[in-house]
Amino acid sequence: MLENKKVLLGVTGGIAAYKSAEIARLLIRSGATVQVVMTEAATKFITPFTFKAITNKEVITSLFDENSDPITHISAAKKADIILIAPATANIIAKIANGIADDALSTIVLASSAPMIFAPAMNTQMYLNPETQENISKLKRKGFEIIEPETGELACGDEGIGRLASIDEIIESVISEVNRKDDLKGKTIIVTAGGTREPIDSLRYITNRSSGKMGYAIAGEAAKRGAKVILISAPANLIPPSRAEFVEIETASELKVEIDKYFSESDALIMSAAIADFSPVQKIEGKIKKDGKIRTLELKENPDILKELGRNKKQQILTGFALEDKNLIENAKKKLEEKNLDFIVANDISVIGSDFNQIAIIDKNGDIKEFPEMSKTETARIIIDYLVDKLGDR
Ligand SMILES: Cc1cc2nc3c(=O)[nH]c(=O)nc-3n(C[C@H](O)[C@H](O)[C@H](O)COP(=O)(O)O)c2cc1C
Repeated sequence: MLENKKVLLGVTGGIAAYKSAEIARLLIRSGATVQVVMTEAATKFITPFTFKAITNKEVITSLFDENSDPITHISAAKKADIILIAPATANIIAKIANGIADDALSTIVLASSAPMIFAPAMNTQMYLNPETQENISKLKRKGFEIIEPETGELACGDEGIGRLASIDEIIESVISEVNRKDDLKGKTIIVTAGGTREPIDSLRYITNRSSGKMGYAIAGEAAKRGAKVILISAPANLIPPSRAEFVEIETASELKVEIDKYFSESDALIMSAAIADFSPVQKIEGKIKKDGKIRTLELKENPDILKELGRNKKQQILTGFALEDKNLIENAKKKLEEKNLDFIVANDISVIGSDFNQIAIIDKNGDIKEFPEMSKTETARIIIDYLVDKLGDR
């Protein structure tokens, strides 16, 4: 998987630095040669000796080491096939986003053209700080991959987002980045994401719990594999993948307008948006005022966008999602047929908003493939692999 690949593992100063030892071990077990570079703060959390023992290599902790190559930063930068920084502190993210090179790790990063993956880990407030978010956006715009941290209990005792992503997800990302194929080169893929918003008045709307994470992961994976990606998204609290063209919409009808602009020229459409089935019959201008009365909100069914695309499709491979609370496979099959899809991804309603998914892919030829629970990044890879096969069969 990582045979003959040289991974430069940057370790920075956070509690999660102890997990980097396991990351180094698993990278080596996957066949990689690992060169560890530690910041001074990282050495307060875990010793260089641990990494030396695991990697069988001297750890770089300084640019000015009397006993090693005087231009370490250039030679290490040139040798790396990939740079992984895990954990990545708010500080290293800020430095790399702004081109600062004041220690061995940041200097090597600045001197390298290798693909880079950052796995941030920090206190929730630090992570959600607008400065950190802006720095993360900058890294994404530079084309670097960010493995989003998980939500849960943090070392500082707080509960929230900021925990280092799972080690499995980090290793998977390195393997996929290093072995990246360009198997969607020349293809145009439309991906829709997020839950649409249907206005009640100028202030309020009806929506659903879709986070957009699955669609964003699919768009990112397709773009990495060379496709021209148009990501049409309802508002989501996520940073769009840097390589995708991004169109933001609110309502189901706006989504349709945008799809219609791109559909005829596309090779595939993956409808992962949770499109509202219903919208208020009337949108009230301004704000509905309280008056002590019981109100009834009248809803009408929205046009079935996917069904219409299924009727009109030509060369396009059309994929939908079935999110069901019961009889998942049966209902997904029904949806596949009714909407004339090429394949459908079935998942249980419980995955909504989660970082994980457990899917089954049902093909129009009747094949069903079931997969175990995995991260949405890995799920996106499986869906795109399937799409590539379908495009090949066309
Ligand atoms: C006990 C302790 C835990 C820390 N944990 C984190 C952390 O998880 N994430 C983070 O961004 N900073 C953390 N910090 C702050 C960083 O260590 C500090 O910003 C340092 O300057 C980072 O340097 P570096 O990016 O060069 O490694 C922690 C500090 C202490 C004292």
